[in-house]
Amino acid sequence: MECPKEPLESQCSLSEMDDFDLTRALDKPRLKIERKRSFDERSMSELSTGYSRHDLDMAHSPGSRSFVDTPLSYVRNSFEPHPMVAEAWEALRRSMVFFRGQPVGTIAAYDHASEEVLNYDQVFVRDFVPSALAFLMNGEPDIVKNFLLKTLQLQGWEKRVDRFKLGEGVMPASFKVLHDPVRKTDTIVADFGESAIGRVAPVDSGFWWIILLRAYTKSTGDLTLSETPECQRGIRLILSLCLSEGFDTFPTLLCADGCSMVDRRMGVYGYPIEIQALFFMALRSALSMLKHDEEGREFIEKIVKRLHALSFHMRNYFWLDFQQLNDIYRYKTEEYSHTAVNKFNVMPDSIPDWVFDFMPLRGGYFVGNVSPARMDFRWFSLGNCVAILSSLATPDQSMAIMDLLEQRWEELVGEMPLKICYPCIESNEWRIVTGCDPKNTRWSYHNGGSWPVLLWMLTAACIKTGRPQIARRAIDLIESRLHRDCWPEYYDGKLGRYVGKQARKYQTWSIAGYLVAKMMLEDPSHIGMISLEEDKQMKPVLKRSASWTC
Ligand code: GLC
Repeated sequence: MECPKEPLESQCSLSEMDDFDLTRALDKPRLKIERKRSFDERSMSELSTGYSRHDLDMAHSPGSRSFVDTPLSYVRNSFEPHPMVAEAWEALRRSMVFFRGQPVGTIAAYDHASEEVLNYDQVFVRDFVPSALAFLMNGEPDIVKNFLLKTLQLQGWEKRVDRFKLGEGVMPASFKVLHDPVRKTDTIVADFGESAIGRVAPVDSGFWWIILLRAYTKSTGDLTLSETPECQRGIRLILSLCLSEGFDTFPTLLCADGCSMVDRRMGVYGYPIEIQALFFMALRSALSMLKHDEEGREFIEKIVKRLHALSFHMRNYFWLDFQQLNDIYRYKTEEYSHTAVNKFNVMPDSIPDWVFDFMPLRGGYFVGNVSPARMDFRWFSLGNCVAILSSLATPDQSMAIMDLLEQRWEELVGEMPLKICYPCIESNEWRIVTGCDPKNTRWSYHNGGSWPVLLWMLTAACIKTGRPQIARRAIDLIESRLHRDCWPEYYDGKLGRYVGKQARKYQTWSIAGYLVAKMMLEDPSHIGMISLEEDKQMKPVLKRSASWTC
């Protein structure tokens, strides 16, 4: 994407930082090399598999635009855009929320038919991410900038649950604009978890905020926003929450159930993959934006150390493939001391039956959770896609994740992309793990439901690993149903065939996710906004299985 307004030199330091060795980040000021575009050329050449040189040249050529204005492939092949695209843009624009005349976000769902509004009339931080990406890709950055500034202001509020004060850095889960037609005033109410069902603070909000700030900067080339003292402070406050010292023995981030997209009790407490992958991505994004001033340096040092430890931990202990599963199956238990192989004392008997059938010979994934004597073997889509995008997964692991997806297409995609997790939990396990949650019954909602919003992350992961054909297959499925079903929030059933029991219609992130997926496939250079290249300093020490090397 072109960035005409900024001086050339300031456009590049961010993309250069992505490729920066972590160890060097401490010693050197940020590189300033003259480059024409804000996206990362190296990443483009590396993702070229699956695209012809011509496609990429088109995407690189100065002046190339996002497809809504001048769609590349349509120009090339002169075929019409899918009719759903125009409908989706219309619906996305309808969902825009204004504060004192300025667009500041998009409402979660614009579903007039639904009797229960709950908080679906609010702007959710996580839900706005695909909307923001759609606007950025379409050359409309203002709403994204306003959103980032508005949420930054909200972060400054005092947050309490009863008599307990929350950490300063906590970002809201959602906010709502109240219009007073008589006084002609707009006010905002925000929810940091104190009104949320279950009263959980959204750990993911702060991470998404940092990731989005980087996407904005990368896409527009406008460094002035991220470099303001306010934004620098906002980043530092978020980081202080998760980089503070405590009793931890692991570099992963300990959290409560329901603190992210899965915002109800689903057995995702402890060290859930979704949070760990977002944590990793936010740390790397922050590293590329923090100033090397006195306050910034202190955080940069902490980030570098944490990233080393976190990538080692995740790549070794969360990774599961055929070989690793076989190793765990044969684990000894009750080992003491540094020589222990089974460090977390996982009981082989706790391996669920399904995983033996599910695991293909080729392929692998990051499991849902690892903590003392507990491995949650469930596959979660968001965490695995973000692991690819952030390069938490090594290139071999990224390929293995895609291999698994292809080999287990029926289970993970079925008729509607993409399952939030696999498999579901049922019967007594459902009773114990969810606390009998009627919304999370088997193969529904967070319990193995299929969420169209996940399409954008899947598509980005496909592009990054050079396998756009997988994304095309998923988009075909979406195009056969989503519009006809009025853009539902989620689908139910083992194959994702049924519109979700309590799914909202016109769910904004289902709409925006589709647009983002389409735009990325049309112009793969967009992926630079939400993808980070591998850092060579974080290579894994252990080689565990064939799927890493083949
Ligand atoms: C549900 C989802 C959550 C989403 C919210 C608004 O609570 O679980 O992830 O942010 O709806 O769409």
